[in-house]
Amino acid sequence: MATYPLRIAGNMQQLIDQTLAAIGSLSLELAPRRFGRVVACDGGLIEVSGLGVPIGTICTIAQGASLRHRAETIGFRNGHTMMMMLGDTVLLRPGAEVRAEGKPGMLHVGSEFLGRAVDGAGEPIDGGGPVLATTTWPAGGHRVGALDRSRVTQMFDCGIRSLNALTTFGVGQRIGIMAGSGVGKSVLMDMIVDNAEADAVVVGLIGERAREVSDFVSRHMAGERAANTAIVAVPADHAANLRLRGAMLATSIAEHLRSQGKRVLLILDSLTRVAHAAREIGILLGEPGAARGYPPSALSTITKMIERAGNSKETGGAITGIYTVLADGDDHNDPVVDTARAILDGHIVLSREIAQRGQYPAVDVGASLSRVMNDIVSVEHVENARKFRALSASFEENRDLIMMGAYRQGTDSLLDEAIIRQPRMSDFLAQGTGERVDMTSATMQLSHLFSDGH
Ligand SMILES: Nc1ncnc2c1ncn2[C@@H]1O[C@H](COP(=O)(O)OP(=O)(O)OP(=O)(O)O)[C@@H](O)[C@H]1O
Ligand SMILES: [Mg+2]
Repeated sequence: MATYPLRIAGNMQQLIDQTLAAIGSLSLELAPRRFGRVVACDGGLIEVSGLGVPIGTICTIAQGASLRHRAETIGFRNGHTMMMMLGDTVLLRPGAEVRAEGKPGMLHVGSEFLGRAVDGAGEPIDGGGPVLATTTWPAGGHRVGALDRSRVTQMFDCGIRSLNALTTFGVGQRIGIMAGSGVGKSVLMDMIVDNAEADAVVVGLIGERAREVSDFVSRHMAGERAANTAIVAVPADHAANLRLRGAMLATSIAEHLRSQGKRVLLILDSLTRVAHAAREIGILLGEPGAARGYPPSALSTITKMIERAGNSKETGGAITGIYTVLADGDDHNDPVVDTARAILDGHIVLSREIAQRGQYPAVDVGASLSRVMNDIVSVEHVENARKFRALSASFEENRDLIMMGAYRQGTDSLLDEAIIRQPRMSDFLAQGTGERVDMTSATMQLSHLFSDGH
């Protein structure tokens, strides 16, 4: 009879021991939890009181268990932190709690992004699982001295005959593709992604149509080059800071790959939409608009972003950057066009007139220029390209006269030659979307154009 209570006491003791052991293994977080509260909302801009976090910090705004918003810190004023919503403001209410998450100003990068398509926040949009990248990289890039950028000395094969032959790109060059809307920038970019020679391709589709984005992702994530391609896509209906973040993410992924010695092709479609996003943020923060409403910070944002491409002396890696620039209303004096033209090492101009004739890619040879070409190709190649330009300029200048039959042969020997060679020259410029013409064939075909008697 006496053993019975003893057994109960033993069991109790065991239970207490187990409970204490479970409590002992818990980690207690005793630091004060920091959060602020939403005090104002004005469009996509919200003001938060009581949360002093650095610019670039991503914050979560929680209202109850199921409703979460995200916002990014873009400035502060009068003791309040200004944040921009990453989604829309529907159902956001005053007083909602705001908490910081992650490391401010850092993005996840890494080769895990190759073969994947993600949005501006790095979340997958290709239907796959999360991208498990652990390396972090500053969104604005590591600042390097001007002397770390080695010279452009090697040819870059972009797979397009007219560009390879007449405006040869170099590895580490930054090039703009400029044209009005609907002239073929995106299609040309698409061809370059398919045909260019590079260790890795990073594509930023910023502010483009959602339909084009899904088209692009499904096409390029299925091909044989998919494993070396990373896509960051932020369509036009996403918040301005997400669009900007998308461009920064694409550039950061490319920079990280370059730091591993890779030769990366970075494509950004379009730089103008990145400038629009930066303009929106600048104006929200009260910066005065200067040229065409672009505050100075918007133009300096794109300048800094372009400067991040180039060769790295330290690692031997390179980022060849190709940026599309929308020449609004075919106006080539737009501030973004001007800024880009000043900082880029070359620009390809696509012409609406040529496109209307049905000649694609509609490269305007006379207006296009690669500033590094003469340093990287043979003397004979430079000479042939110069001759092509001269003949093409002469023909284009007199096109109307010739078409009207008002030109008499023998008046101008350059024009006479241009008229004879014109059909073969326009065939040379045209290229089907599925066709690839590498550097060697492009230069050979160019010299064949002039090697015969006519
Ligand atoms: N190489 C090509 N071959 C045949 N058609 C082409 C080619 N390039 C462009 N096009 C035609 O031109 C249209 C517009 O091209 P694209 O979408 O590339 O223009 P864009 O310059 O990117 O326009 P936006 O500025 O509006 O984005 C295409 O839908 C297609 O019909
Ligand atoms: Mg386009």
